[in-house]
Amino acid sequence: MLDLENLEHRAQERLSATMYAYFAGGADDETTLADNTAAWKRIRLLPRVMRDVSAVSIATEVLGTPLGMPILVGPWAFQGLAHPEGETATAKGAAAAGTAMVVSTVATTSLEDVAVAAPAAPRWFQFYLLRDRLMSEDLLHRAAAAGYRAVVMTVDKLPVPGRRRRLAADRFSLPERTVIPNFGYVVPEGKDTGPDGYLRGLLDPSVTFDDLSWACAECRLPLVVKGVLSPEDAVAAVEAGASGLIVSNHGGRQLDGAVATADALRAVVDAVAGRVPVLVDGGIRSGADVLKALAIGASAVLVTRPVIWGLVVHGAPGVEAVLHELAAELAHAMALCGARDVADVDRGIISGMSAAGACR
Ligand code: LAC
Repeated sequence: MLDLENLEHRAQERLSATMYAYFAGGADDETTLADNTAAWKRIRLLPRVMRDVSAVSIATEVLGTPLGMPILVGPWAFQGLAHPEGETATAKGAAAAGTAMVVSTVATTSLEDVAVAAPAAPRWFQFYLLRDRLMSEDLLHRAAAAGYRAVVMTVDKLPVPGRRRRLAADRFSLPERTVIPNFGYVVPEGKDTGPDGYLRGLLDPSVTFDDLSWACAECRLPLVVKGVLSPEDAVAAVEAGASGLIVSNHGGRQLDGAVATADALRAVVDAVAGRVPVLVDGGIRSGADVLKALAIGASAVLVTRPVIWGLVVHGAPGVEAVLHELAAELAHAMALCGARDVADVDRGIISGMSAAGACR
């Protein structure tokens, strides 16, 4: 059993107070941060029995990316500040566990170097549409050239970064000389940048669905839009050309008071009606949480903070261990719900929902 609370505690001991606050924290009162986790727990499973689950498979495929489990490593920034091997270790850990990592644009390792770390493993690249469209194009083309299988365009970091009270109290500033190679950016010495200072000048707050259409046309890979909560936005994103969606509130780090992703997922899945895969992140902490997401209609989930703690404490083997444990918990929960494989999971295993209307 993975004791996530204990793992987080050990990670906290290893990180500076401000770095821990940066990774763990959310916006303002952290209501959404807490509700993301609580909302999965509020959903109750309805186990199904006598269904011959002597063999359970959790393998799946999303947008042509084969996955040993319906769990991807979510994108997060500055992994080199979590562990000396940073994104390279996360890539190796995810590859060893048989799943894909979503590599952040705001990584401390270039997207090409992450690709080299685990060349055989599938990877997706997280992307922001920048004010500088040439730089945006360049990132999209580099991701394709480096063998990434999909691009995840984050749309909820805009138009403004969330307010992180924990960080403001500590006057958090990125360590001097931290390098963001994908941008060629180096945190200047003697200047208080805050965690988002560098992004303010780069991200484009004027982005609209027309710009999404532009990015979809420019991108040679499937483009997955991350940060959608409204069913109307979901449909608009699909109509603009998105190949997939991630229901996300940025880990509770943007608008505090935003709906928990577990509560937003169903309406988005229904609105999209199977046209593109819908994924979800935020507060997923156990295999049962993953199963609930799949049952509501997600094709896969992204897990981030538990993986951060695994990276901080044990590097690549820590990432692998967290993913293996979630996979084992998922297989166990599936067996107890009478599901032999991911395609077998539907709303019939959620208390208060019916199997009809489930779509993936
Ligand atoms: C954050 C940005 C980098 O949430 O996505 O910190």
